[in-house]
Amino acid sequence: MKNMDAKDPVEAELFYRFLKEEGIGEIYRTQETPKPQANPAPAAATGAKNDLLMLRDTVLKCAKCAELAATRKSVVFGSGNVTAALMFVGEAPGYEEDVQGLPFVGPAGQLLTKIIESIGLERKQVFIANVLKCRPPQNRTPQPEEILNCEPYLREQIERIKPRVLCALGTFAAQTLLKTGENISSMRGRFYDYHGAKLLCTYHPAYLLRNPGEKRKVWEDMKKIRQELGEAV
Ligand code: URA
Repeated sequence: MKNMDAKDPVEAELFYRFLKEEGIGEIYRTQETPKPQANPAPAAATGAKNDLLMLRDTVLKCAKCAELAATRKSVVFGSGNVTAALMFVGEAPGYEEDVQGLPFVGPAGQLLTKIIESIGLERKQVFIANVLKCRPPQNRTPQPEEILNCEPYLREQIERIKPRVLCALGTFAAQTLLKTGENISSMRGRFYDYHGAKLLCTYHPAYLLRNPGEKRKVWEDMKKIRQELGEAV
């Protein structure tokens, strides 16, 4: 693996894991994935869960976008740890997500899982959501009105989960959260403030599937997130 400049063996191992394609090469394991820390105070977790469940009930009934409500199989609210220190935001559910009612469970989701694991975390430790909670037919681009309709739900999710770090995956998430028309390439790799949370934008895993040469940049972004999280997870 020529590109690898990490000197720390743990970083090296995480890097190999990150770049490893399904079924190709070996997993280099130098140490076990760090064990998750003890759970937060049960009362806080229960409160956050109840808040989020109430919001979920509202979102599951949403019919603000007539076309999406008529064509969806599921409303994909999001999943993960309700008190997560790290939250990922994608664009919109695709076919598999619509069928299963869960975010990032298709091919891009499998890569997202590897990305999460590359910084020593498990999916269940983070929260994963999308800008749109319903699949646009044929995975077409989300329309401005759909984003306007759905963005308040995302904002409320973030307010209730209170992540310390947010990671926007791809153009739509980055532009929606930062309310800008800027290009993802110019936004990625640095932290912005999002109502007190640190927001980092990076490339969408689906883009990485089409452009595997860009994985290195996402790896650099993930290291910044890991460093920002520090002992929080
Ligand atoms: N792409 C997304 O942006 N979100 C998903 O949930 C799946 C694929």
